[in-house]
Amino acid sequence: MEPVLAIYPGSFDPVTNGHLDLIERGTKIFDRLVVAILRNNEKEPLFSIAERTEMLAEATASFTNVEIDCFNGLLVDYARERKARVILRGIRAISDYEFELQMAMMNRKLQPGLETVFMMPAVEYSYLSSRLVREIAQLGGSVGGLVPVAVERRLRAKVI
Ligand code: PNS
Repeated sequence: MEPVLAIYPGSFDPVTNGHLDLIERGTKIFDRLVVAILRNNEKEPLFSIAERTEMLAEATASFTNVEIDCFNGLLVDYARERKARVILRGIRAISDYEFELQMAMMNRKLQPGLETVFMMPAVEYSYLSSRLVREIAQLGGSVGGLVPVAVERRLRAKVI
């Protein structure tokens, strides 16, 4: 069997401990894991692509089989370019499932050979999202334990 390359795509604005939990799980079952940041997102981001790349690189430095990259356009096109066999996505709760299923099925329609694999983060991260982290930080709340310390520092600097 050829080594399995998986892509873990997302906005990562910013990376949370939930993302890192999933990355760690992914590193154990895939040979290589590419964490891919979507560039052309419609959403107005808090952190630039360069900042998000830096934060992810710092937070995943201990994993030897993880790479951080960015992509534009369709995920399936990027996956084909990278010769990836798997898309990794996290499912925190049933509420995630409907949208994730829709994306997985659409991606399968676009590229039938590409498999989406869902993994669940640790239960303590089941309520965690980048959106809530941004909101809490912007309103002066503590995000301790929800994101890496370096990300917490950057969030504080960003909202002053
Ligand atoms: O972190 P997010 O915002 O939940 O990630 C969503 C992401 C980046 C996985 C999704 O928006 C995506 O794959 N966008 C790329 C464009 C694309 O392929 N769209 C069709 C999806 S079926």
